[in-house]
Formats: sequence, C-alpha cells, structure tokens
Amino acid sequence: MGAILAAAGSAVGLGNIWRFPYETGNSGGAAFILIYIACILFFGLPVMIAEFTIGRHSRANTARAYQILAPGTQWRWVGRWGVLTGFCILGYYTVVAGWCLEYVIDSASNAFANKVSADFVDMFNSFVSNPWKPAVLMTLFMLATHVIITKGVQKGIERSAKILMPVLFILLLFLAVCSITLPGASAGIDFLLKPDFSKVNADVFLSALGQTFYSLSLGMGCLCTYASYFRADTKLPNTALSIASIDSMVAILAGFIIFPAAFAVGINPDAGPSLIFITLPNVFTQAFGDIPFIATALSLMFYILLSLAALTSTISMHEVVTLYLHEEFNFTRKKAAWVVTIVCGFIGILCALSFGVLSDFTIFGKTLFDAFDFVTAKIMLPTGGFFIAIFTGWFLDHRVLRAELSPCRTLHPYIYRAIIIILRYVAPAGIAMVFFNELGFFS
Ligand code: PFF
Repeated sequence: MGAILAAAGSAVGLGNIWRFPYETGNSGGAAFILIYIACILFFGLPVMIAEFTIGRHSRANTARAYQILAPGTQWRWVGRWGVLTGFCILGYYTVVAGWCLEYVIDSASNAFANKVSADFVDMFNSFVSNPWKPAVLMTLFMLATHVIITKGVQKGIERSAKILMPVLFILLLFLAVCSITLPGASAGIDFLLKPDFSKVNADVFLSALGQTFYSLSLGMGCLCTYASYFRADTKLPNTALSIASIDSMVAILAGFIIFPAAFAVGINPDAGPSLIFITLPNVFTQAFGDIPFIATALSLMFYILLSLAALTSTISMHEVVTLYLHEEFNFTRKKAAWVVTIVCGFIGILCALSFGVLSDFTIFGKTLFDAFDFVTAKIMLPTGGFFIAIFTGWFLDHRVLRAELSPCRTLHPYIYRAIIIILRYVAPAGIAMVFFNELGFFS
C-alpha cells in the first residue's frame, strides 16, 4: 500500500496542476485534452503496466532491472536513459517548486490582498527575474528533498500522501466551483469543452504525448523502481488504472480552475509556465475579496499542498538517481544523494536564473528552463516509453508477463491480449508516428 501511494504521489504533482493547464492553453484547449486522454489510454496505461511488470518481476531499481531480466544485452541502456532523464527533470522541476514556496510566503504575508489581474502578472515577472530569490527557493526545495532521501522518512511521506492527496483533491474541487462561478467564466468552460480541431497540428500531438508521460511519471523507470516494492499479489493493471484515473482527474480539475478564471480576468490561456501563478491569485481575491481571512487561508493551504505534491514527485526522481549511483557505483547512499543534490542543484540554479539574468542565454531559441522542459518531456520520456513498450511486448518472456499481469489468473483473457497488442504494436508505432509527424514526415 505504501509503495502504491508513493507511486500515486510521484504521479500527482506540478505536472498536473502547473504543466497540464499551460500545455492545454498553448495547444488550444478541448481538442488537446481529447488527444491527451487518448494518449493516456493507448500509451500511458500500457507503459505504466509495463514498468510495473519490469519492476516487480526484477525486484530491482530501473538500471539493474534490465540486467536481471535481459542479462548481457544492451537493454540496460533503457534503465540508464531513465536515470539520466530523471536527473534532468529534477534540475528544472525544483525551480517551479521554488516558485510555489514563494507563493506560500506571499499567501502568508497577505501579498495578494487588494490586487488585480495586472498586478499578479507584474508580481510574477518581477519575482522570476529577481537575480537571487528563485535560485535560493529552488535550493531550499532541493535540500528538503535531499533531507527526506537521506533520512529515510519515506514512510512519513506515504502516510501524508494518504491524507494530503484527498485534501488537495477536495480543495481543487472547491476552487473549480469558485472559478466556474466567476462572472465571465463561461468562455473558459467553452475553451475546455468545445474542441476546435482546426488548431491541431503535429506540435499538439507531441505536447499531448509528452504531457502523458510527464504527468504519469513514465518513461524514466520511476514507477518501475516503486513497483519493485509492490506485493506479489498486487493487481498491476488495476493499480495502473487507479493511478492514471486519479492523475487525470487532478489535471482536468486544475483545468477547470485555471481557464474559467483566466478568461474571467482577461489572461491569455497561452501565457506559458506563468499561467497558474498569474491566474490563481485572482480566484482567491475575486471569489473571497470580501472575506480576506478566507482568501488568505485558502491560498495558503493551496500552495502548501501544491508544494507537498511537488515534494512527493521530486523525491521519486531523486530516489531513482540516488539508488542508481548507490547500487551501480558503490557510493554510500549519503554520498550518492549529495552528488545528485549538488549537480541537479547547479542545473536548477541556472534554470531558475533563465527568467532573469540568464534570459539571453538560449539553445535553439529556448531559454535553459524551456530547453530542459522541452527535451525531457517531449523527447526523453517518450523515447524511454517507446523502448519500455518494445522490451515488454517483444523481449520479455510471455510467461513472466502473464504471471505478473495476472498473478491470481483473474485478468480477463481479452484484456490480457489487448495489453500485449498495445505494447507490441500500438504504443511503439503510435509514439514513432508522433515523432515522425513532428519532423514533418506526414505533412
Ligand atoms: N509526474 C510528476 C508530475 O506530474 O508532477 C513529474 C514527474 C515525476 C515526472 C517523476 C517524471 C518522474 F519520473
């Protein structure tokens, strides 16, 4: 149960509440959401089941799992690729987690009171371009992750995930109701529910695919590592379905908070990474402006819960890399954790400053932060997912797959067949087509 909760904790994070709305906003709304849901069904769920299978059967971390299941082959590179991906995501993810900390401080000091939409935009821009604050907060967040990884209080995290996730969910539901009832919110609801397929292009498919892997923590062996602690009789397909459902519901709820509010106060849905930070304070101040105490309490609670949701995700990424260095290079756990914290912290500082002093430093026209986000979510994770599907569908002994998918032989044979067909053909071909489409092969 602890491992399943930890896996859900890894999945639910900034990817749902920060990244999903901004990708939806950039990609035109409802049509993106439909493609995203299809990606979850055809790529996300099967690859999650595949990662669970690999982890539970090998009972090892992601890098070692392939050496156990396919000794002497090059498949170990899939595990290593995952470790590298986790390392790169951790570097810039903590920057956004640091922004959440700033908003915890702002909420506590009542900084949103008497402000209007344009003020929130200025507030965000002046904060992210500050020459030291975002880097310091990012470092604090990285250190918090480090302490948990080294002190081994994972049990506490699992227990708090059990309480905090439902509270976060209820709060999101409440905020969605507040947002939907703001005057002028209906345009935002239309944006979420009325698909405009004329806006769908190759980029939209790639964004939806990337968001699927990102949000479900797939393609980098994180769930594989957690599954190595699952009980032998845990039903992997059911667990995957529960985690994917919770994760998608949180993301869609976040959409129902952000877009009605954004349209109500005149913020462009394609504002990018700043979207939730410039939109949400409006919900608190507009819905509860007359009762400032409630506005403060709600925003404080929201940003604390969001920071904790981010923490359960950063822990999962840090753990994958730390465990790899610890087991493969014989580093002590403490030394391994310090290497990860220091190197990722350095990447994080550079990314944190890429909205200000380092904003002129670009790679292919993208700031460092955007480049890390693009490369990890849209290239590295789907590539990892592609090879995980091929490995499980084609190379893993089918007796192993059958025994893992249905330890008590309760899985319907049709569902088993469907999972195999998707892992063998649909997921690899689909991911490859999205990549080729992006490269212009089909246009
Ligand atoms: N799934 C996390 C989120 O939605 O915030 C982010 C993440 C965690 C991505 C762990 C990848 C990963 F391995």
